[in-house]
Amino acid sequence: MSQSEVVYLNGKYPPKDQASLSILDRGFLFGDGVYELIPLHNKKIFYMQHHFMRLKKSLELINIDPSIVDEINFEKIINSLTDSNGYVNHFIYIHISRGVDNSRNHIYMENTAPTVLVMGEKYQPFDIDNIIAGKSAVIEEDYRWLKSNIKSTSLLANVMLKNKANLNNSYEALLIRDGFLTEGSASNVFIVKDNIIKTPKLSNKLLPGITRKFLSDIITMHGLNFEETDISKDALLRSDEIFCSSSTNPVVPITKLDDKLISKNAGPITMKIYNHAQDFIKAL
Ligand code: PDD
Repeated sequence: MSQSEVVYLNGKYPPKDQASLSILDRGFLFGDGVYELIPLHNKKIFYMQHHFMRLKKSLELINIDPSIVDEINFEKIINSLTDSNGYVNHFIYIHISRGVDNSRNHIYMENTAPTVLVMGEKYQPFDIDNIIAGKSAVIEEDYRWLKSNIKSTSLLANVMLKNKANLNNSYEALLIRDGFLTEGSASNVFIVKDNIIKTPKLSNKLLPGITRKFLSDIITMHGLNFEETDISKDALLRSDEIFCSSSTNPVVPITKLDDKLISKNAGPITMKIYNHAQDFIKAL
């Protein structure tokens, strides 16, 4: 963090290391809030309208008035943080909690003012050698709640799953619910089988990833075969290629899953999508 880096917190721009919140903030006490993580490429807000639309949907689904997204003008705030802090390729984290009540109570009051935080985070995506070599992943049971389409700040299950993968020297935990792949602990998952790229259909069981949307646009744009479909655990294990997608690393090849070698290196279709995505981003 640079000495003078500032964040946005409830209408003010305090230094990052001095910004603070009430202990009665429902985000702190209950994880009662939602968030967005938006990449900034060459100072431009990536897939901005999609991120703002998902934020509004998350707010609506937890009964916080989504009109706050238009009222606050996040685009202006992000551009202001980008200018003040000299961001070029950072990530922007937006966090909206239900706000501060006057006591700890599961039942929230209807008209509490939401707490709004916007801050930048430095992030180093994997370099090309890492991408070509690919990463390991583990299979875990998806024991999260059944509203995983909400980008909720209550991330305990995701944190536990990602750390389990990390303890196994793996990049990601690929999650199985009722015998079928949902997503990763912090990413969406694609497979390739017989030249067809597949990813699970959107539902309440997975996050509608913006990178998932970006990659499906890229895949369609380049005329590759694509299906949104159910993927069983067996089909996952029999994949020719697997990759994860997220705003922090758009395409991460998975070459080893539990003890099974999926491919020696990142597969050819995965690399094609990776390269098309990189070209698109570089042209911004
Ligand atoms: N996570 N699924 C889960 C559970 C995620 O946490 C994420 C991203 C994704 C991919 O979404 P997107 O393409 O919009 O980044 C899917 C972010 C990076 C995070 O929590 O830090």
